[in-house]
Amino acid sequence: MSAELDWGNLGFGYIKTPYRYVSRYTHGKWDEGALTEDDKVTISECAGVLQYAQTAFEGLKAYTAKDGRIVTFRPDLNAERLEQSAKRLEIPVFPKDRFLQAVDMVVKANRDYVPPYGSGATLYIRPYIFGSSPVIGVKPAEEYEFRMFCTPVGPYFKGGAKPITIRVSDFDRAAPRGTGHIKAGLNYAMSLHAIMEAHRQGFDENMYLDPATRTYVEETGGANFLFVTKDGKVVTPASDSILPSITRRSLCYVAEHILGMTVEHRPVKFEEVKDFAECGLCGTAAVISPVGRIYDHGNEINFPSGMDEMGPVTRRLYETLTGIQMGRLPAPDGWIREIK
Ligand code: PLP
Ligand code: COI
Repeated sequence: MSAELDWGNLGFGYIKTPYRYVSRYTHGKWDEGALTEDDKVTISECAGVLQYAQTAFEGLKAYTAKDGRIVTFRPDLNAERLEQSAKRLEIPVFPKDRFLQAVDMVVKANRDYVPPYGSGATLYIRPYIFGSSPVIGVKPAEEYEFRMFCTPVGPYFKGGAKPITIRVSDFDRAAPRGTGHIKAGLNYAMSLHAIMEAHRQGFDENMYLDPATRTYVEETGGANFLFVTKDGKVVTPASDSILPSITRRSLCYVAEHILGMTVEHRPVKFEEVKDFAECGLCGTAAVISPVGRIYDHGNEINFPSGMDEMGPVTRRLYETLTGIQMGRLPAPDGWIREIK
């Protein structure tokens, strides 16, 4: 029986669902893991996560497809990215097959909370991993927890498909050769001040530039950029210090192999941005959120697609990606994992 929620009016917030998954790493190995109803985490006051932010996370979604099946989108890539994040933070890797099994278990146990097809909401799944044992010298913890909960969500930006306004940030998000390419909690902690400043000034998000030269576009606090040129090419910024977005990689594939468009994944100079026809933010939470305007210290870039709706190419990409995710369109091999 579906939970009694106002699916069409959900924001991007936390709603406690009945079950979550926990596996603990002690004496050099992961235990067998299990679902629990207990939403509280009990760890040492001196845990590695609390003292030195030794934690990484992931984000993926489950959908009710048109035919009523419950599916997830490319969870194998989340497992692989969490592995990269773990290695960079000296956290023991949680095996991919077990990650996928945990996704299946969590979604299945909370299936009443998977929003119905066509409601505009989805089930957001949050896997995370952290050092749980005490550390006081700066070093990795000896014990860890891998956890996964889920929560039904609506659009990440209020207004859904309405174009947003962002600003060029004076703060940097990630250092060259730092941790920008992994999903470390610390990247988000240091973006909180920048996002609050942006909100206080009336902007929805920050555009971060490359910290070394401040001449190239990196990403926002929670999504990669996607641009469309006036002659219809899709351009996405390449950089070693941005998160390799699964949504962006999927959209580039869709653009090139399904829609027959030209795609360029390359460094993008900020100077070029004013010449693009459309701009969007892409990510699991953001899906594709159109950007209508960018403020850069008194200068404005207003995209021809305007502030009322998504540009035509962004819309085609959005329709195709969400069509694949919700089972309205055929998916490339291996993209959809059905929860049985
Ligand atoms: N960039 C950042 C900083 C993010 O937090 C996210 C969200 O996961 C993304 C990009 C988008 O990545 P994905 O499409 O894999 O969700
Ligand atoms: C996601 O899209 O899954 C993210 O982790 C972004 C986050 C800012 C909510």
